[in-house]
Amino acid sequence: MRLTVIGTGYLGATHAACMAELGHDVLGVDIDPDKIASLRSGRLPFYEPGLQELLDRHIATGRLRFTTSYEEAAAFARVHFSCVGTPQSRGSDAADLTYVDAVIDALAPHLTGPALVVGKSTVPVGTADRLAARLAALAPAGAGAELAWNPEFLREGFAVRDTLRPDRLVLGVRSDRAEALLREVYAPVLATGIPLITADFPTAELVKTAANAFLATKISFINAMAEVCEATGADVSVLATAIGHDERIGARFLRAGVGFGGGCLPKDIRAFAARAEELGTGRSLAFLKEVDAVNLRRRDRVVDLTRRLCAGDPAGARVAVLGAAFKPDSDDIRDSPALDIAVRLHLDGADVTVYDPQAMDNARKTHPLLGYALSAEEAVVDADVVLHLTEWREFRDLDPAALASRVRARRIVDGRGALDADRWMAAGWDFHALGRPARSSAGTAVRAE
Ligand SMILES: NC(=O)c1ccc[n+]([C@@H]2O[C@H](COP(=O)([O-])OP(=O)(O)OC[C@H]3O[C@@H](n4cnc5c(N)ncnc54)[C@H](O)[C@@H]3O)[C@@H](O)[C@H]2O)c1
Repeated sequence: MRLTVIGTGYLGATHAACMAELGHDVLGVDIDPDKIASLRSGRLPFYEPGLQELLDRHIATGRLRFTTSYEEAAAFARVHFSCVGTPQSRGSDAADLTYVDAVIDALAPHLTGPALVVGKSTVPVGTADRLAARLAALAPAGAGAELAWNPEFLREGFAVRDTLRPDRLVLGVRSDRAEALLREVYAPVLATGIPLITADFPTAELVKTAANAFLATKISFINAMAEVCEATGADVSVLATAIGHDERIGARFLRAGVGFGGGCLPKDIRAFAARAEELGTGRSLAFLKEVDAVNLRRRDRVVDLTRRLCAGDPAGARVAVLGAAFKPDSDDIRDSPALDIAVRLHLDGADVTVYDPQAMDNARKTHPLLGYALSAEEAVVDADVVLHLTEWREFRDLDPAALASRVRARRIVDGRGALDADRWMAAGWDFHALGRPARSSAGTAVRAE
């Protein structure tokens, strides 16, 4: 089939390349001419494992092309996926729908025949209903220009796999024609037997926001337990293992740490709660404000702990920050806990040096005042404290004994609960993790906090 994918960011570029991989002829559309020039020349503007290979392959097969022209897009295909951003509005928690509206406004006037516009962005419930009316009103094809909503659940770092082999597909559709077209688009994916859920618009929209709200709540739940563990001397990692064995609870997403960030969970739970307020059901989602607050308090905790490890005054202390991306296997630094903490310590006067395997260019651009190193080994030179804030495998595999001779003081804060404490302590490090008693290299409790 011929498809367009409008908005070629993390979601759209992945979707476009994966649709070409499924055998479709795909035209990627973006208003950012630099991004389109980069994609045309085969340069992925961000890091995502496995995606560069798909881009190379399908630029070569000719099944994947890019444009900035909506006119060309409308003429190219009957099915158009809209993958533009829905960031948090300036000055409020609500989603900024400027970009999703702009897609309809730019595309609709060119739709002279039957067309299906498929929204994939994460939007407040009620958006699809409004956009469907706007589309039909603005398109010369009238009601022949139809809308569907197909929320996206991909995870950065696993985006290619999640698109080609998703857990489930959710289709918000209003006609048999829309459902048939989408079944045709996803035929190779559906052939693998994954569940297909068809729904009305509000349900399809809510599936996505509910899924994100649940995941954020699970992360903040274990982080709230970490706070209680810190007040009582208990160990949240043992607690998490023990409750995770209960299959009604499950062990995933139960690792205490500096919490979630990125371009999705924080803004999505805020937008969901804001939408609930608008709908008069604010109390139903009031707990999401606490989920958000617990999450942000974990960053405060690392900043406070680091201050204390610097004898109360980080000014002049050297702090090594391992990680800048909001999660491993990505270069996405949107609302990154690692960079938030790094900046706050820098503002406290600490001499902060950051290293990340993939996100250095993005971090340098947005945070030029922080120091940067080209490796973890270089970042920790003369450090008074080392902070592990993004759980890249590379950091788990570090040799604590080799790093020990480079630092000024052997103190590590594992903000992701992912390092092997025994290995670090055996190499002479004082080991601090959120929600766990701190331990010195001699295995005794350390009273830094
Ligand atoms: N990133 C993820 O992991 C992920 C996962 C699931 C859902 N989502 C949702 O997908 C949406 C997109 O997220 P993202 O992370 O890809 O954002 P992004 O900022 O990386 O990409 C958005 C792209 O849209 C382009 N754009 C903006 N206005 C446009 C217009 N009028 N016409 C054409 N292009 C336009 C921008 O230039 C940019 O390239 C959001 O709603 C997000 O919540 C993202």
